[in-house]
Amino acid sequence: MPDPRRVAVLISGRGSNMRALVEKADGYDVALVASNKPDAAGLQWAREHGVPTWSQESKGVAKEDYDRILSATLVDHGIGTIALAGFMRILSPWFIDRWQGRIVNIHPSLLPKYRGLDTHARALDAGDTVHGCSVHVVTEELDAGEVLGQVEVPIETGDTAETLEQRVLAAEHELYPKILREFISR
Ligand code: GRF
Repeated sequence: MPDPRRVAVLISGRGSNMRALVEKADGYDVALVASNKPDAAGLQWAREHGVPTWSQESKGVAKEDYDRILSATLVDHGIGTIALAGFMRILSPWFIDRWQGRIVNIHPSLLPKYRGLDTHARALDAGDTVHGCSVHVVTEELDAGEVLGQVEVPIETGDTAETLEQRVLAAEHELYPKILREFISR
């Protein structure tokens, strides 16, 4: 049984949530930052901060073949919990079953509202007064697993998708480390 406190953070881009998870780690260790994009900006930050990294381009590789390679890497690093943080790739049913109940994700909406992409614009278009972010367990259905924690972010007059995104992102950086710690100790 791998140690649930050994966390792999999976990223595809800038990795600001990954950075928050590393900087605020408490009750867990980020033992690996993995990416399906070798040029993901977050990888460079992780390397500079002494966090082990792994990357392999996913484009052009069959989904489950890729996921088997990724999974073997996680096993090699003794990973017990996977935190998705801007990982722009839908995992295969095989992978989700293999790591069942051990994968969490941060999503920029108050789930079950606005699964999928463009959540900030959709909240504005709907005339919502409150938006926010959620950490949830990853299941086969997109953004639909058990919600572990949420933060509300009020929508202000004059907000654009960009200004709203910035405030939600700041809330994500507070929420994710806290909920990950709770998830691992439950
Ligand atoms: C965040 O908005 C997160 O909620 C979503 O993807 C974005 C990733 O941003 N899943 P970053 O790479 O963590 O900065």
